Amino acid sequence: MKVTVVGAGNVGATCANVLAHREIANEVVLLDIKDGYAEGKALDIWETSPINLYDSRMVGSTNDYSKTAGSEVVVITSGLPRKPGMSRDDLIATNAGIVKSVTEQAIKHSPDAKIVIVSNPLDVMTYAAYLTAKVDSRKVFGMAGVLDTARYRSFLATELNVSPKDIQAVLMGGHGDTMVPLPRYTTVAGIPVTELIAEEKLNAIIERTKKGGGEIVNLLGTSAWYAPGAAAAQMVEAIVRDQKRIFPSCAWLDGQYGLKDMYLGVPVKLGINGVEEIIELQLTDDEKALLYESANAVKEVMEVLDNMDLMKS
Ligand code: NAI
Ligand code: 2OP
Repeated sequence: MKVTVVGAGNVGATCANVLAHREIANEVVLLDIKDGYAEGKALDIWETSPINLYDSRMVGSTNDYSKTAGSEVVVITSGLPRKPGMSRDDLIATNAGIVKSVTEQAIKHSPDAKIVIVSNPLDVMTYAAYLTAKVDSRKVFGMAGVLDTARYRSFLATELNVSPKDIQAVLMGGHGDTMVPLPRYTTVAGIPVTELIAEEKLNAIIERTKKGGGEIVNLLGTSAWYAPGAAAAQMVEAIVRDQKRIFPSCAWLDGQYGLKDMYLGVPVKLGINGVEEIIELQLTDDEKALLYESANAVKEVMEVLDNMDLMKS
């Protein structure tokens, strides 16, 4: 079972390291456009194998997609972070160009692959990959909800002084400030979180979660990688081991939640076929209003992409 990770930067290399360390794939191909970079990272990761005791093979590649042929899953992390002076539209154009060219080459060599997008802006880059790959929408989806719920669960674990293992949560919407954590669906070992924590404290944790990406950027001067890399690897594991796990993921909606022809974060069942089911929760009117607000924000960015010549060629 081969898995490819495109982009050997912070998130991609971390994801590849988790995939190898946990033997999620027999072969992990790490590919980057920078000369020698993926080979260097792959070699460094492979040199941990006698220490960490795994035998997943690591392969590095400088833009040679023949090495990725026959991948079960391709994770796309290539893309630039937003730089000072760069408009949101510039970032969309640059990263969509990268995602488009990477998807074209990846799908050519692995036509049956499931594609997991990580590059930002996440929801619209997943859309760009879908438009490019021209495959069943169940095979193209994005990682954001696993990371965002991990942040939420870790903050709750700290606040309640309990194991993060016991915290279950679901979160919906786009990957950004409009994301919609759902306290009604958050439990601690089966106990509704609302019974364990004061409303004001819970609201503060929800607000912190929404800004979780920015909190790390402020501390590090660049975006996070340990949690995003591990989150993407967890999605890959669910696919290659056909685990049927339920994760919030950026998936193509075709009428679910009253939303159509768009990508948005929703709970899905992930297995060997990719998104095998979209779970429809019974939302309250208030929750629906927040979800639609988030959907509108994502739609606006999708329209920016639709209006660019880039995706028309
Ligand atoms: P990074 O700058 O460390 O790595 C990006 C890598 O992509 C670089 O090594 C670069 O050479 C490579 N690259 C650029 N163009 C390429 C191409 N055409 N083909 C192959 N490789 C190419 O960035 P980092 O921190 O790893 O972040 C990657 C992306 O993931 C960013 O867009 C970031 O915003 C996003 N991200 C998304 C998260 C999510 O929750 N979905 C969480 C964290 C980051
Ligand atoms: C994050 O949430 C910036 O999307 C990135 O860390």
